[in-house]
Amino acid sequence: MVARAHTVAFQGVDARPVEVQCAVSPGLPAFSIVGLPDKAVSEARDRVRSALSSMAIALPSKRITINLSPADLPKEGSHFDLPIAVALLSALEIIPRDAAEGSVSLGELSLDGSLVPVVGALPAAMTAAAEDRVLLCPRASSAEAAWVDATQVIGAGSLGDVVRHFSGQSPLSAAQPGEVTLEPSARDLRDVKGQERAKRALEIAAAGRHHLIMTGTPGSGKSMLAARLPGILPPLTPTEALETSMIQSLCGLLDEGGISRSRPFREPHHTASMAAIVGGGRGAKPGEISLAHNGVLFMDEFPEFPRTVLETLRQPIETGEVMVARANAHVKYPCRFMLVAAANPCKCGYLTDPGRACSRAPVCGEDYLSRISGPLMDRFDLRIEVPPVGFTDFDLPAFGDSSYTVAARVEQARSIQAERFRDTPSTRQNADVEGKLLDEISAPDAEGKDLMLKAAERFGLSARAFHRILRVARTIADLDGAPDVQRPHIAEALSFRISAKAAS
Ligand SMILES: Nc1ncnc2c1ncn2[C@@H]1O[C@H](COP(=O)(O)OP(=O)(O)O)[C@@H](O)[C@H]1O
Ligand SMILES: [Mg+2]
Repeated sequence: MVARAHTVAFQGVDARPVEVQCAVSPGLPAFSIVGLPDKAVSEARDRVRSALSSMAIALPSKRITINLSPADLPKEGSHFDLPIAVALLSALEIIPRDAAEGSVSLGELSLDGSLVPVVGALPAAMTAAAEDRVLLCPRASSAEAAWVDATQVIGAGSLGDVVRHFSGQSPLSAAQPGEVTLEPSARDLRDVKGQERAKRALEIAAAGRHHLIMTGTPGSGKSMLAARLPGILPPLTPTEALETSMIQSLCGLLDEGGISRSRPFREPHHTASMAAIVGGGRGAKPGEISLAHNGVLFMDEFPEFPRTVLETLRQPIETGEVMVARANAHVKYPCRFMLVAAANPCKCGYLTDPGRACSRAPVCGEDYLSRISGPLMDRFDLRIEVPPVGFTDFDLPAFGDSSYTVAARVEQARSIQAERFRDTPSTRQNADVEGKLLDEISAPDAEGKDLMLKAAERFGLSARAFHRILRVARTIADLDGAPDVQRPHIAEALSFRISAKAAS
């Protein structure tokens, strides 16, 4: 007779159902696991055996076979220990069969039978809910899983707790979800002196999720400006918070099961590996671009990133998804981020500083910025030069809008977009709009159209550039509260796209 338990295997943010079957049959004593287990899953055998013996349960002198079904789905990670133990305990009639079959379990066992926290409890709970089963997991992982309120989540401290729970000796109570946090940003836009144009670009970028690149001499405030973005972005919506938390759950980043409504702000260093940025490596983990999902990916010193990394970004920027290759399959992670890049104008940094001379001008700058390919540059909707601020500016009192005021305008523009895209769930901000919908929502008035056509002719704009300008113009009109896109909106959008040098 075969005993059954249930668990999941992770494929991207999806937790695929896996049935754990256990057969105990006469024959030479053996304990084998089949069904594409990786090394960690194969080692479950020794952990399960030791955990059972710590509870004074000896394995029978028979042939024990564990099959992880479907057999062609790769099984990775240490979370298979608990479901294997549950299936075995059910086969040995130590826990009731219906209890084992009615739950989805995941957890790693220590040799003494205690349960160690695992990643991915939140996506696993979603699968348990879809299958109408209870989720059983380590206590330390239960607070994040409890966010899925369509299923009951039981957090156990040890395998002994699980046996006592299922046998009715001492039932465990349902886990409670962790806290929802929203950390206010301590950095205010008013701390940045001058740079009004850059601040305006930040506001437009935040309002429509447009990608932004800033070039300027070192110390002109580029990193400072980018760090102020979290302070002007609205909190995550409940759907977005869940999506972002799923990725954080797979990376084990949900602190005590709490969910944050602050938008992610990720700033990978340029020496980080391709796998760390894009995703992949052992276990095909999500990378920085997926951790920045629904938030900001800030790439400081943009041209210093390896060219392969920069070029790999092109596809995910367009689609909002990234395919990560692993040994025998591809997994997909969401990565709808807002890319903010900062670059010095040349290697030494002083090419555009009138007060200092770059010794290799102008080739120095051409060499340096040419590391960013044309098609990649084309994906930045907003391009600004951040000039150095003079000492006289530092003496001026702070003026301009505070982050609080700008955040209110951004929120207003975003709520107009939420209303506009209510019936198109794959489109959330103006930056996502494609095709017919783009034509409908951003058709400029006659004067605007005229300006747009002239600019397209004069600067030889690509079709992608043309559409990107329209999207930015739509955002500017939204910030303005204007129902239609007008000539001034187009003019401002063009000014952020076309450098002063090209226009002269
Ligand atoms: N516009 C500015 N207003 C106020 N302080 C500034 C400004 N620009 C630069 N600074 C000061 O210089 C430091 C370095 O700026 P940073 O943003 O790192 O420059 P960049 O990234 O352009 O090289 C900041 O921490 C801040 O103290
Ligand atoms: Mg910097």
